[in-house]
Amino acid sequence: MAKLTVKDLDVRGKRVFMRVDYNVPLEEKDGQMVITDATRIVETLPTLKLLIEKGGKLILTAHLGRPKGKREATMSLAPVAKKLSELLGKPVAFVDDCIGEKVENAAAGMKNGDVILLENVRYYNEEEKNDPAFAEKLAKIAEVYVNDAFGAAHRAHASTEGVARVVAKRGGKCAAGLLMERELKFLGDELEKPARPFVVILGGAKVSDKIKVIDRLLEKADALLIGGAMAYTFRLAQGYKTGKSLVEPDAAGIAKSALAKAKAKNVKFLLPLDDVVAVPVKTDKLDKKGKPVIEYQNPKASADLNCPDDAAGLDIGPATVVAYAAEIMRAKTILWNGPMGLFENKQFAPGTNAIAQAVAEATQKGAKSIIGGGDSVKALNKAKLGDKVTFMSTGGGASLEFLEGAVLPGVAALSDK
Ligand code: 3PG
Ligand code: MG
Repeated sequence: MAKLTVKDLDVRGKRVFMRVDYNVPLEEKDGQMVITDATRIVETLPTLKLLIEKGGKLILTAHLGRPKGKREATMSLAPVAKKLSELLGKPVAFVDDCIGEKVENAAAGMKNGDVILLENVRYYNEEEKNDPAFAEKLAKIAEVYVNDAFGAAHRAHASTEGVARVVAKRGGKCAAGLLMERELKFLGDELEKPARPFVVILGGAKVSDKIKVIDRLLEKADALLIGGAMAYTFRLAQGYKTGKSLVEPDAAGIAKSALAKAKAKNVKFLLPLDDVVAVPVKTDKLDKKGKPVIEYQNPKASADLNCPDDAAGLDIGPATVVAYAAEIMRAKTILWNGPMGLFENKQFAPGTNAIAQAVAEATQKGAKSIIGGGDSVKALNKAKLGDKVTFMSTGGGASLEFLEGAVLPGVAALSDK
């Protein structure tokens, strides 16, 4: 890796300002915020343990949710400090601010190997604005900068970018953590020269979200398998009826160009052969966001590529599962990003689950499988197959932007080797 990593650092007795992505899902239970998935915390433990062993004083900074510059109690990192302490097996002091005297006092009292976690940086508006004066305030206690927050590395914010610049200007080192290094290795280097066949599975709701990734991967992949609602925008582009399926009429043009590019590049471009369709009906019930809950009636597999007027396509059908699984079983490298249907709803989870199963089996047979974060990771974990793949990214938006070929500001700001 071209960037300095924590392995190259001497941190004994130094205050290490470490940015982590502890933007974890929380749920309120009996008036308390409870972490429902601690993966992002667990994944930073190797970096923390290494830096503790090296005798650094670790000051962790993170964001949680989007509090927009306000002290939202439900977005406090206090429960995260508690969880981290349990996982690390040592005390983690929590400071209920990220700048100012409280932080300076806490930092002054640290011994080598101590860990503290600062309160949500997004309680200040200046964080997302990457305000230089705010970055200076954050950097006040920093002698070394470490970024292990791959999931937030696509943001040019004060704690992900500005602080690194301040530390570097003072002659301090800015290094990638071990998680950051792994993410860049699997989503970057490993896909540069993949063992072939290289099969890419892309799903999710929108073509417009994925078009840059599709475009870039058409340069590298041997086959692209498309699922999720975005498949219906491709159908629209091919002149089929899409009924009430989620489609982006404005993106039909880019879908057409992708199909043409695949043909020109001789890349197999597989679209669903059949679907699971159902009739969506609005109910009187409201969801958490106050929107009417939709019920899906009469779900059935359909091999008619024209969707009935009153129905929506919500999952890939059984024939598609067979065809996609065969392609996956032939692969030596697999990249998967995005579910094959509305998998949060049990009725429409079989397609995504079958793909998860195929990816796990292909991995067992020796393929390298890389899961590009977000919903595909959720689906794999739900199917209890998370440990059966080679790598699962902790990034959502960050993985997508990185796969598009973008330079992530949080990475760019780190010192070169
Ligand atoms: C994420 O969860 O995707 C990252 O933590 C970044 O959060 P954001 O999308 O609110 O910037
Ligand atoms: Mg996000």
